[in-house]
Amino acid sequence: MKIVVLKERSSEESRVAAVPETVKKLAGAGHTLVIEPGAGLVAGFPDAAYEEAGAQISDKELGNADLVMGVRRPPAEVLSQVKEGAGVIGLLEPHSIKDSLGDFNARKLLALSMEYTPRITRAQSMDALSSQSNLAGYRAVIEGAALYGRAMPMMMTAAGTVAPAKVFVMGAGVAGLQAIATARRLGAIVTATDVRPAAKEQVASLGGKFIAVEDEEFKAAETAGGYAKQMSEEYQKKQAELTASHIAKQDIVITTALIPGRPAPTLISEEMVANMKPGAVIVDMAVAMGGNCPLSKPDEVVDVNGVKVAGFSNLPARLAADSSSLLAKNLVSFLPLITGENGEFAPNFDDEIVAAMTLTRDGETVHATLKEG
Ligand code: NAI
Repeated sequence: MKIVVLKERSSEESRVAAVPETVKKLAGAGHTLVIEPGAGLVAGFPDAAYEEAGAQISDKELGNADLVMGVRRPPAEVLSQVKEGAGVIGLLEPHSIKDSLGDFNARKLLALSMEYTPRITRAQSMDALSSQSNLAGYRAVIEGAALYGRAMPMMMTAAGTVAPAKVFVMGAGVAGLQAIATARRLGAIVTATDVRPAAKEQVASLGGKFIAVEDEEFKAAETAGGYAKQMSEEYQKKQAELTASHIAKQDIVITTALIPGRPAPTLISEEMVANMKPGAVIVDMAVAMGGNCPLSKPDEVVDVNGVKVAGFSNLPARLAADSSSLLAKNLVSFLPLITGENGEFAPNFDDEIVAAMTLTRDGETVHATLKEG
C-alpha cells in the first residue's frame, strides 16, 4: 500500500508519525512510503534520513495514499485532498472530534483513532497512549525539577546537607508510574495516590509510598478497561481532606489524573495551593483536559505567591525524537491488522482492535461513543 506520512500542520506539534527506522521496516515489507517534506525535521529526522531508509519525499501524493499517517487529527484542508475510501490514522482526539466527523465522512475515510486501542495484551505494542504517557511522565519530573529552585537528592557536602525533595504524584497510571520512577532515580522522597486499588502495589514496587482514601468506593473504582471511574462527591471530599495536609509539605506535585471522555478531576484547590511552601512546584499534566488544579494554564507557568503552577499541554512533544520513535513503532505494530495478503490496504474489521479504533467508515460514523451524540 502507499502510505503518506504527514508533516504536522500545527506548529505546536514537533512529533512525526514515522521515523527512518520504521520507514525502513515498512519499505522492506513492500509498502511505498511518502514523507511530506520536513515532516521529521523538528524531531531530528531530516528528509535525507528518510530517503536513505527507502522513502520518497513529496507533498503531492496525498491524493494517491491508501493510508495517511499523522500524529494529530489532520485539518479539513488535508482530509479533503485524501482519496475516497483511504485510511487516516493518528491521535485523532476522539472526545472532541464530533465537529470534524463530517470531514472524514465526506471523503468516506476510514478514521482510526489510536486513543481507542483496547487495553488487551495483544494490543500493548500498538498502544500510543501508553507510549506517549510514559515519556510524558518522565518529562514532567524533569520540567518540575528544572522549575524547582533546589536540588532533588539529598547531598552531604562539607558546607552542609541539602535535604531531598519531596515529590507527590497524583494519579499512578502509566504517566504517574514513570514519574514516580524518575523522581526516585533523581533521589526524591516520593509519595503517590490514585483511586484505583491496583495502583497501590505498583507504587510500592517503585519505592513510592501510597496515600489514598481506601474505602468501599475505592475498591470498585477501576473499569473493566483498566481506567478510573468518576468518583462521587463524597469520595472527592474525603480525598481532598487527605490531600490538603499532605500537599502542604510537598516540594513538587505532579498531577496526572484523567477520566476518559470527561474533564479532568480537580485534585488541588486554590486553597491547597495557598497552603503550599513558597518555591514549591505543581506540574499539571492534565491541563489539556481542563487540569487537576484550577490555577494551571496551558503552556504557562503561573506564579501563585511563590508556588509555580506549570501546565504543559503536550509533554511528549518536548521529547520529540523518542516520542515519535515510539509512536511510529506503535503504528508499525498495528499495520498488519489493516494489510491484506499481498500488502494491499485491506482492514480486517472482524479484528476487535480495528473495530475498537474505527470512528468512521464508508461515509458513516460507526463508533458507538460518537454515534450516541
Ligand atoms: P489515565 O491516563 O486515564 O489516568 C491517569 C491516572 O489517573 C489513572 O491511574 C487513574 O486511575 C488516575 N485517576 C483518575 N481519577 C483520579 C482521582 N480522582 N484521583 C487520583 N487519581 C485519579 O490512565 P492510564 O495511565 O492510561 O492507565 C490506567 C491503567 O491502565 C493503568 O493501570 C495501566 O497500567 C493500565 N494499562 C493497561 C494496558 C494494557 O493492559 N494493555 C495498557 C496501558 C495501560
